[in-house]
Amino acid sequence: MKNITLGKRLCAAASFVRDGAVVADIGTDHAYLPIYLVSSGIASRAIASDIKEGPAACARENVHKFMLDNKIDVRVANGLCGIEKYKPTDIVICGMGGELIADIIDASDYVKDENVRLILQPMTSIKELRSYLSDGFLTIDENIAEEDGKLYQIICAHYDGKKRSFTEAELELGKENIRKRGELFEKLLNLAIAKKQKAIDGQRLGGRNVRELEVELKELEGLR
Ligand SMILES: C[S@@+](CC[C@H](N)C(=O)[O-])C[C@H]1O[C@@H](n2cnc3c(N)ncnc32)[C@H](O)[C@@H]1O
Repeated sequence: MKNITLGKRLCAAASFVRDGAVVADIGTDHAYLPIYLVSSGIASRAIASDIKEGPAACARENVHKFMLDNKIDVRVANGLCGIEKYKPTDIVICGMGGELIADIIDASDYVKDENVRLILQPMTSIKELRSYLSDGFLTIDENIAEEDGKLYQIICAHYDGKKRSFTEAELELGKENIRKRGELFEKLLNLAIAKKQKAIDGQRLGGRNVRELEVELKELEGLR
């Protein structure tokens, strides 16, 4: 059977999964990502996990359609609860809010192992997620994807127990994205600058102090 074609957002996340990985996709919904990873031979097996029965049923149906029932386990569970049973090497959490992703990681001891890779794609609150990761997790790499006119950031990390400091711009854009300055970086930076300028204008209108925001804007502009 033909493999699934992923959109650019999930493709960018898939690019961080290691060859031969046992991959767990948390919040899998349709299970497109594990189906793609196993069908293409990147992952040796997969766990497609969702908190709701509806998405898990959809995942089960798709896994069956691709005849991968013996390679992909579909389960209903909250976050990483009970994941140790499957011993995943690479854990993907895509398409959720950054704070929920941080809560899911925080609730699990399994991920506190430098051999377990985390691949995270938050839809919101990227600064909050990076701030959470700054206490104990090393960012190995990051990338940016554009799909349907929207930009998405993907973080690849593992636990090392060390604490790191980030500037506001680094929390927003990612140290690795800043270092690499890939093809979508300028677009991401310009969006962040426009957002910061809008926040400053709004605060000013309300008569509030904008000094801190102006310092943050200057840092962003310095990256141009
Ligand atoms: C917007 S979909 C994202 C689907 C897919 N990961 C993607 O990026 O295209 C979010 C999925 O996460 C699931 N979800 C939300 N909270 C969860 C949790 N605590 N544990 C596991 N799954 C969760 C939802 O049921 C939903 O299917």
